[in-house]
Amino acid sequence: MKIDPWSSSDVKDYGKLRDEFGIEPFSPLLSKMKDPMLTMRRGVVFGHRDFDRVVNAMNRKEKFVMLTGLMPSGRFHLGHKMVADEIIYLQEHGASTYLIVADIEAYNMRSKSLEELREIAINEYLVNYIALGLQPKNCDFYFQSERSSDARKSNAYYRLIGMASSRVTFSEMRAIYGEISPEKIMSVLTQVSDILHPELPEFEGRCPVVVPVGVDQDPHIRLSRDIASRMKGNGEYNFISPSSFYHLFLKGINGGKMSSSNESSYIALTDPPEEARKKVMRAFSGGGATLEEHRKKGGNPEVDVACQYLTFMFEPDDRKLSELITGFRKGDLTSGDIKGYLADKVESFLKEHQKKREVAKKRIENFLK
Ligand code: TRP
Repeated sequence: MKIDPWSSSDVKDYGKLRDEFGIEPFSPLLSKMKDPMLTMRRGVVFGHRDFDRVVNAMNRKEKFVMLTGLMPSGRFHLGHKMVADEIIYLQEHGASTYLIVADIEAYNMRSKSLEELREIAINEYLVNYIALGLQPKNCDFYFQSERSSDARKSNAYYRLIGMASSRVTFSEMRAIYGEISPEKIMSVLTQVSDILHPELPEFEGRCPVVVPVGVDQDPHIRLSRDIASRMKGNGEYNFISPSSFYHLFLKGINGGKMSSSNESSYIALTDPPEEARKKVMRAFSGGGATLEEHRKKGGNPEVDVACQYLTFMFEPDDRKLSELITGFRKGDLTSGDIKGYLADKVESFLKEHQKKREVAKKRIENFLK
């Protein structure tokens, strides 16, 4: 099994992936959490690395950092919203929030100009984060190309990129990432510094750090953890190894992978609500081939995209959700019933969200220092 962070393919078997890469199952942590997220309760968040440290810090109201990065490519869709909800949940539960625009990585790996990337990062990502509830308090939103106007901080961040490079070998990199190139090496080491630098004395100092990301980013997490312990080993730095947790990917509308490069596979948060409704109505269905067959044999909610969207985010009420899923499984509810129900939810969410975006646009400056 291989994970390529720059062209992640669809994950078929999450259990196998978890075991192969030493990711811990998430569910044992639930009993220790006072207020787990919906996706955590429902098993959508399936694994973690050392997230217990962060749960402890949350419970004891101690300092911790939540940090994640975004590649400003294309439009912000429901898959991105899953990570945004995690960011906001952690911020609401006391995290100092670091949001990184991976513009150097996108410049190197996607050949876009820094100006264009800045524009996408702000108007697509930041505006949506704010509309979803991100607060400026304790939030450090920065660009890899421009860490801070405070030279002391900026120097510490770029110094760490340079120093991290001697804590990993070329063959290790090749084993993790396959084909390796100068721009990949640079992107990887920059990301390692992104993940480790909050613990430097110029920033928060030693404390737990959690990185919510897609599981396609796990190779970077593993490498950062290795580099952290090697730097600790030689006595220079005393990092606590960074933590992470992972959710199942949200399926694309067509039942395959949701991909920014395929318009018809996703619902963007700026899609006109009526258009999103149409997308929902043509979503891949797990219903029977004919209505008659569906009534007799029932449907398969595991592969049904509408059932999945309700489970992942659009039906917060557990009782209602189980009613819908059971009804569909038995054949009492048709694919059209489920899609119609979801379409209403999606439409009203988007209408509301797009109003919030207009307010959010006026608050951008509070996040850009
Ligand atoms: N590589 C990440 C992506 O492709 C972006 C990123 C950069 C990142 N730095 C990070 C993610 C630090 C998590 C933590 O989306």
